[in-house]
Amino acid sequence: MNENLSLAQKKQDELLKVIEESPEIQAQRPVFHFATFGGWCNDPNGFSQFKNTVHLFFQYHPYSTKWGPMHWGHVTSKDMLNWKLQPVALAPETEGDCKGCFSGTAIDDEGIHLIAYTGVSGKGNVEVQNQCMAIGDGVIYNKISDKPLITAKDIPFEYNKEHFRDPKIWKKDGTYYMACVIKQNDDNGALILFQSSNSRKWTYRGILDSSKDGLSKMWECPDVLNLDGKDMLILSPQEMKENYDLGFHNGNNSLYITGSLDYKNCKFARETRPENGYTAAQIDYGIDFYAPETTKLKDGRTIMIGWMQSWESYITPEDYMWSGMMTIPRELSYKNNQLYQLPIRELEKWKCNHENGILSSGDMALSTKKMGEMQRQFEYDLSINSKAGGKVKFILGNTENEYVVLEINLSENFISFDRTASRTPRAVSFRKAKLKSENDLMKVRILCDTCSMEVFVDDGRMAFTNAFFFTNPKSGLILINESSDSLEYFFCNIKKNKER
Ligand code: FRU
Repeated sequence: MNENLSLAQKKQDELLKVIEESPEIQAQRPVFHFATFGGWCNDPNGFSQFKNTVHLFFQYHPYSTKWGPMHWGHVTSKDMLNWKLQPVALAPETEGDCKGCFSGTAIDDEGIHLIAYTGVSGKGNVEVQNQCMAIGDGVIYNKISDKPLITAKDIPFEYNKEHFRDPKIWKKDGTYYMACVIKQNDDNGALILFQSSNSRKWTYRGILDSSKDGLSKMWECPDVLNLDGKDMLILSPQEMKENYDLGFHNGNNSLYITGSLDYKNCKFARETRPENGYTAAQIDYGIDFYAPETTKLKDGRTIMIGWMQSWESYITPEDYMWSGMMTIPRELSYKNNQLYQLPIRELEKWKCNHENGILSSGDMALSTKKMGEMQRQFEYDLSINSKAGGKVKFILGNTENEYVVLEINLSENFISFDRTASRTPRAVSFRKAKLKSENDLMKVRILCDTCSMEVFVDDGRMAFTNAFFFTNPKSGLILINESSDSLEYFFCNIKKNKER
């Protein structure tokens, strides 16, 4: 094992021990979401099924709760809810990645777990990004070479060498493909494609798409997939400008674009969306969603997982020993010209204590004996008359001073989340988005864990993900129906199910 990898492993073992011995820290942590076992984590990496186990790697800095030289942490799961910590997979060490092992992806290549990642290197303040590879058996990973496999020499034009990253690897009809993002010299971001017959020697093919028409100046973490027969790009553009009608917010966004991928001419032809004539659509309208990756499971499902935070919304309390969680893995489908996403069905086995009822107009449901006494892992499903006008409010909190508010506003047709009164309201603490429901009976599914609330409207037609931190691991919950019609609710707790 190389030196930096063994140091990181030692640190990870220490962190794990601290967590295992501290009920207080355990109580801070999510129950059915992945969170780093100490240290910092950002993007999901290498999300893939390998030999019937789902593997999730992640951008990892075990030495502090702040971003630092990037490693790849690694966990595995059978149900994508119980995650087992594995040895640290990659550490910055070689000539090609001495400054960091940045984001990338993995595939099961006929029994070999093949990883593509970005190696950051360079002398002094200079940073260069290139593409590197590693192979593994599901536990131990070895870099294929000390040097990057793809560098500037392979690209037939000049570009900004600090921005060439996040390889998405896939295999089609026996050929390997790798799509990476790059910053061109004309100051636009682009998605470029490489091809290989043996996964070692790569040939540049061309530019699949570029950010020219207002889609920021640099993309991150691309995904290229075919979902229910539709070719799709998933991109995370930096420094976007807010556009309420299109659903974009300032800063880092994660968008999807449908179209058709022409392998022969190496072009992705974008489609425009029927609802607004634009090409890109937001994946999740909440504050905390970035850099998602998808993978296709052997059972046919396409699953997406995202970092449940964004660069401009870092709110983890300073006294925590961990920072970084992932969204619930989501089953994707494409229908009615829309991306749909729903929590993986494996979660059903974790549900208990069902309760349902009707909340009449003007009424309030206090779903706990007292504020601050209820476990915070639950699902609330609401069926609301979308034409009723008024609003429905959902307040989750510990005390009069510590709470978050989800509002479903039927008169003005928006959904909003306000965490100003939570523990660390820093940075972005409020987000509002146009409600995307076309049904008279709007279904709202609210999934709560220790530090997050993910909302799925109309069977996943819209997702709205937000994180928050409270002092007390338990909460109270108030549902207020300020609409002019009654609403139906279904409630259940979510409890750990160790069965795998
Ligand atoms: C996205 C990102 C990637 C990069 C990684 C570094 O969040 O900036 O582009 O590879 O994080 O940690």
